[in-house]
Amino acid sequence: METCRRQAVSVNEGLSIAAVSCDEYSGEQRLSFDTPEDLDRAWKLGIFYLKTPDYLDLDRARQFGSELISADSPHRRIPQYGELEGFIALENNQQTKLALSRPRWEQHYPAEITQFGRWLDGIGIAIMRAVFRQSGIPEARWDRASGGYSSGKGTAFLNFVHYDTRNPDWGLHPHTDYGFVTILDATAPGLQIEVNGEFDDVPVRPGHLVINFGEALRFITEHSDRAVTAVRHRVVSQRATDPVRHGIVYFANPDLDGMLWQFDVRGEVKGSSSVEDLFALLEKNLIQSRN
Ligand SMILES: [Fe+2]
Repeated sequence: METCRRQAVSVNEGLSIAAVSCDEYSGEQRLSFDTPEDLDRAWKLGIFYLKTPDYLDLDRARQFGSELISADSPHRRIPQYGELEGFIALENNQQTKLALSRPRWEQHYPAEITQFGRWLDGIGIAIMRAVFRQSGIPEARWDRASGGYSSGKGTAFLNFVHYDTRNPDWGLHPHTDYGFVTILDATAPGLQIEVNGEFDDVPVRPGHLVINFGEALRFITEHSDRAVTAVRHRVVSQRATDPVRHGIVYFANPDLDGMLWQFDVRGEVKGSSSVEDLFALLEKNLIQSRN
C-alpha cells in the first residue's frame, strides 16, 4: 500500500558532505554532493557538513571569537541594539555572544572579520540557490519567495558564541532555527540533532562547517517538488572541565518586516506569510513545547 509517510533517515551512516566550487560557465558558486543519495539525506535530515572552502580564513575568525572570552576585550563593550544585536549574555541558556547583522559589521568588526562575513554571504546564497534548484520553483520566483536573500539582500547575522559554564542550564534548549540557512563552525562537541524522536551527536569534523536548514526555508519550499526539513537541535550543557566551545554562527534570514511566498513548480502562489507572523507562530509553538 502506498503511504505518505516520510522515508526514515538516520544519522548512523554519518551526515552527508557537500562542497562549494565555482561554476566555470556562470561564474556562480555552486553547492555539490558526491551522489544524489547524499543530497537526499541532507535535505531529509535538514543538516549536512560543508567542506570549508580554502578562501575562508577560519583561523582568524576563531581567534577573534576566542578573544571575546577575555573580560577586557573591547568588543564586549559593543552596545546592544534591540534584543538581537550586540554583546549579549542570554539568561535561558549558556550562550554568551557577540551578534551583529550585516549593516553593522563594518562599524564593529575588524575588516577581515567583515570580509569573512561576506564570504559566508556567498556560501549562504549558493546553498539557497541549490535548494531552489532542487525545489523546481522557477528561478524568476526565487527572489520573491526568499524576500530577496537569494540575490544578496535579506538579513544576515554573523555571531561569535561561547558558553558560560557557571550557568548549569542547557547550552541551547531544543529548537529549530527560524531563518533559511545556518552556517556553524564549532570547536568542541555538544551539538545534537533530533532524528526519529531521538537526539544524536553531530561530531565536530575538522575542515568542515555544519549547515542546517531553518523554518523559513521549509516554509517556502513546502509546496515545491523538494521541501527541506528544518532540523530540531540542541547543545548539551557545557561544563567547566570541557574544552571551551566556541561557535561562529552565520544566519541567513528573511527581513523581519518582509514577506515569504510559497510557490509550486509552475510558479503559482500556494501560500504566503509575513515573516513576523511566521516567527510569532514558531515562538508560540516553541513555548508550548517547553511547558
Ligand atoms: Fe539553532
